[in-house]
Amino acid sequence: MTERPLAVLGATGYTGQLVCRQARELGLPLRLVGRRPEALQALAEAGEEVRAADARDRDALVRAFSGCFAVISCAGPFLALGTEPVEAALEARVHYLDSSGEQPFARIVYERFDGAARERGVVLLTSFGFDFVPGDLAARLAAEDREPPESIVVAYDTSGLATSRGTRQTLGHVLAQEQVAYEGGTLVTSSFGATTRRVRFPEGEKSVIEWGGTEPLTVPRHTDVRTVRSYVQLPKLAARAGALGRLAAPFVRRL
Ligand SMILES: NC(=O)c1ccc[n+]([C@@H]2O[C@H](COP(=O)([O-])OP(=O)(O)OC[C@H]3O[C@@H](n4cnc5c(N)ncnc54)[C@H](OP(=O)(O)O)[C@@H]3O)[C@@H](O)[C@H]2O)c1
Repeated sequence: MTERPLAVLGATGYTGQLVCRQARELGLPLRLVGRRPEALQALAEAGEEVRAADARDRDALVRAFSGCFAVISCAGPFLALGTEPVEAALEARVHYLDSSGEQPFARIVYERFDGAARERGVVLLTSFGFDFVPGDLAARLAAEDREPPESIVVAYDTSGLATSRGTRQTLGHVLAQEQVAYEGGTLVTSSFGATTRRVRFPEGEKSVIEWGGTEPLTVPRHTDVRTVRSYVQLPKLAARAGALGRLAAPFVRRL
C-alpha cells in the first residue's frame, strides 16, 4: 500500500468526515485540507497532516495536494468551488475524485480537463458518490449482452428525503442549472422535470421525474447507446417544487 497520503478537501464537512472515517478504517494515511486550520487540527488524529487552503485558491491547493497519491474533494457547491481543485490536482499530478452531484460540473470536468488528465496520467473521477455511481454501473450491467441498446433509462428510487446541509445548499444551485440528456447520439438541452415516466422498481411501479444525473454524460463513454436519460422518484410536493426549477432554487437553499 502507498505511503503517500490521501488528501481530503472539505474534511470538516459532513461528507468529508465520512470519507476520513472510511479512509482510517482502510488504513490510508490522511492529509486534511480546508480553509479553517484550527478546525482541521481538532479533527486530525495522531500522525495525520493538515494543510490550509481555500477551494478558490489554486496555488494554495497545489501546495496542499503535492506529494499525495489522490485527493477527494468534498467542498461544494462544485460549480462554484470545484474548478480550482481539479486544476490543482492536475498541476500536482495527483489523482482526483469528488462527491459532486452536479451534472454541469461533471460536464466541465469531462470537456475542459479530459485532455490534460490523459496527458498527465491523472485520473479524474467526478460525481463519485451516491450521485451517480450506482446508475452508471447499473446501466453498464444492463447493457451487457444487449449491445447496442437503443435507449437506457436510469431511475433512482428514494426512501426519504434526508439530506445534509451541503446537499440542500447544492440542490438549490442544481435546480437553477442548465442540464442535458443524451438523445439520438448527442447531448441535448433538458431540465429538471422535462420528462416523466413510469418505472418498475422491485416494490412496484412508480412515477419518476427527469433530473440532472450524470449518466447521460458517462454511459455513452463506455456503452454504445443512442439515448440515455436519468430519473428520480420523489414525493409529489418535492417533484413539483423541483419542476419549478429556477423559481424554487432560492427556497430549497434555505431549507
Ligand atoms: N454525490 C453524493 O451522493 C453526495 C452526498 C453528499 C454530499 N454531496 C455533495 O458534497 C458536497 C458537500 O456536502 P456536505 O453535506 O458534506 O457539506 P458540508 O457539511 O456543508 O461541508 C462542506 C465542506 O466544504 C468546505 N468548504 C466550503 N467552502 C469552502 C472553501 N471556500 N474553501 C475550502 N473549503 C470549503 C467546508 O469547510 P468549512 O467547515 O470551513 O465550512 C466543509 O468542509 C455538496 O456539494 C453536496 O451536494 C454529494
